[in-house]
Amino acid sequence: MPQRILITGTAGFIGFHLAKLLISEGFHVHGYDGMTDYYDVNLKRKRHATLLQHPNFAATEAMLEDQKSFDDVADRFRPDVIVHLAAQAGVRYSLENPRAYLDSNVIGTFNVMEAARRLEVQHLLMASTSSVYGANTEMPFTEGEKADTQLTIYAATKKANESMAHAYAHLWNLPTTMFRFFTVYGTWGRPDLALYKFVDAILKDRPIDIYNNGDMYRDFTYVDDLVRGIRLLIDAVPHRPNKPEDIEPGDSLSPVAPFRIVNIGNSDKVRLLDFIDAIEECLGKKAIRNYMPMQMGDVPATWADASLLQRLTGFKPETHFKDGIAQFVAWFRDYYRI
Ligand SMILES: NC(=O)c1ccc[n+]([C@@H]2O[C@H](COP(=O)([O-])OP(=O)(O)OC[C@H]3O[C@@H](n4cnc5c(N)ncnc54)[C@H](O)[C@@H]3O)[C@@H](O)[C@H]2O)c1
Repeated sequence: MPQRILITGTAGFIGFHLAKLLISEGFHVHGYDGMTDYYDVNLKRKRHATLLQHPNFAATEAMLEDQKSFDDVADRFRPDVIVHLAAQAGVRYSLENPRAYLDSNVIGTFNVMEAARRLEVQHLLMASTSSVYGANTEMPFTEGEKADTQLTIYAATKKANESMAHAYAHLWNLPTTMFRFFTVYGTWGRPDLALYKFVDAILKDRPIDIYNNGDMYRDFTYVDDLVRGIRLLIDAVPHRPNKPEDIEPGDSLSPVAPFRIVNIGNSDKVRLLDFIDAIEECLGKKAIRNYMPMQMGDVPATWADASLLQRLTGFKPETHFKDGIAQFVAWFRDYYRI
């Protein structure tokens, strides 16, 4: 049973929620985050400050690219498990500043993998994204399907992470699980994501931009469900199969490595306009709608087949988007006193 968990990206949206869950269950967590200024650093500092109130949590503020710093932290903390969530995230910003994605996501992830290999951790778990499905149109997306048509550098770096991790799992027998997350939303959420931007704009009487004239679908996944899925997957350690026939149908386990890719999504395709209607209903206020064409690099729909997650953990994310929106709005009003 792992006790000590090193999480990267704990000042971030998902890392914060995961750390909170794990310390509440008695794990010792060390967080590692560079507090990048991609969005409001105050929000990141508040998340860390909240976690630091708990005696089982400590944190280091440094960049992943600083290999010595990461190695020092890993050597001192001696984690049983590493969950790597820190990344330059954001699909759209990758058109403006692609280099940041190479630095954080490729070099940074390599440094995490090196430390995991050297310390022979029991399990390395890392974040990928539904964006790796790129131009695929067959839905819902399954882990076993070909995913070779990434549409942004963000998605390409995440796909590269999957390949790099497979190689390390194969070479060094390093048990590795990659998550493909689908549009995560919830309390303490990211200011660059749709729900935050919509709620903020509606409350301040600013128009909201609705891309592809609203003809968009997303598999919105509530953050509490997502981190519950991650928590349970920590215990689902992949093992290298003796022969390919040992792999069960529908399992993405590699035939040559202790390596698996798992979708974490709500398995529900929600129309963006229905999502916006629900926000308006919750706020009791109409949005000023600015209908726009499709954005470069964006995809019209995502939808997860999350049956592998359910098979491995017995858990199925189920929060309805109306409930998730209500929780986010309550947090937003309380946090910003609006
Ligand atoms: N939120 C989503 O909808 C979503 C969807 C798919 C995948 N993901 C992936 O999940 C992970 C977590 O996403 P999030 O929404 O919590 O994002 P986030 O931006 O809120 O958190 C990422 C954290 O990583 C830190 N960071 C970034 N680059 C770093 C670096 N080079 N060194 C050290 N720290 C660095 C940032 O300061 C930030 O606190 C990311 O890998 C992201 O790509 C998120």
